[in-house]
Amino acid sequence: MNTKAIFITGGAGGMGLATGQRFAEAGWRVGLFDLDAAALAAAKAAIGSEAVMTGVLDVTDPDAFSEAVKLFSAWSGDRMDILFNNAGIAPGGLLEEMSVATIRAVIDVNVFGVIHGIRAALPILKRTDNALCISTSSSVATFGHAMRAVYTASKFAVKGLTEALSLELEQYDIRTADVLPGCIDTPMLRTETAKGSGRPFELSMLDRLPKTGAYRLMPASAIADAVWAAYHNSDPIHFYVPEEVGDTDRVKATDIQAARSEIKDFLFRGR
Ligand SMILES: NC(=O)c1ccc[n+]([C@@H]2O[C@H](COP(=O)([O-])OP(=O)(O)OC[C@H]3O[C@@H](n4cnc5c(N)ncnc54)[C@H](O)[C@@H]3O)[C@@H](O)[C@H]2O)c1
Repeated sequence: MNTKAIFITGGAGGMGLATGQRFAEAGWRVGLFDLDAAALAAAKAAIGSEAVMTGVLDVTDPDAFSEAVKLFSAWSGDRMDILFNNAGIAPGGLLEEMSVATIRAVIDVNVFGVIHGIRAALPILKRTDNALCISTSSSVATFGHAMRAVYTASKFAVKGLTEALSLELEQYDIRTADVLPGCIDTPMLRTETAKGSGRPFELSMLDRLPKTGAYRLMPASAIADAVWAAYHNSDPIHFYVPEEVGDTDRVKATDIQAARSEIKDFLFRGR
């Protein structure tokens, strides 16, 4: 089969759905995988293309991931041009107050979910010319965010995996990249920011986001554009959305206190 195919986790909503939409419009075959069966059905209907398959998948289950890849392979003509490891959760809170169960869940979904995905998909990625393995990290992986210490750790792990695998998978001609989104308008951002416990980053903040710079509100389609750019431009490894998110990494390289102050200003602004 000549049609290119993308496998997306967390595909039922937010950035995953927007990316599915973008690639379906461009004529790709799109596999959306997610925990949420009802949202998957709605997502398929919203895209409205025959070239969309959906599958219920919990990314924390390696066997289920292998099974999902098998189903996708049978449907796509045994090709996976892009693996988009995008499923994630972002519960916040003071580290000392988070339950161990919540901490484990963040690491399970955000880190093991990506590792299981790459391991399950490696054989099909190897069989596909010019394949790309791209995962969703976060702006928190430029400088960690207060109230998001565990989430921060999970997204630094994704960024580290990307860099290491960009070396390890080169021998198979598999490219590796990640996206580092700032504030993207998705159900996750709205849920997490609406809680309003009065603590940094849980201010009911959508309307308080800065209007310019790294933390201005971006549409989910900006992530779809970044994934598209990553597939069509093999040079960068990290795709910052918006580009200004990358400024923190650049500043940090020479002046870590300056980077720390910038993040502090953002998190504690108006307090
Ligand atoms: N929205 C933002 O501002 C923002 C910023 C930086 C990074 N991110 C990251 O972007 C990714 C997508 O987030 P989003 O904003 O679109 O969130 P979202 O909550 O709108 O979508 C995430 C999807 O992942 C699915 N999911 C959760 N756990 C899963 C599991 N165990 N197995 C399979 N699917 C699962 C959910 O059902 C949901 O459909 C996440 O990795 C998130 O951490 C988001």
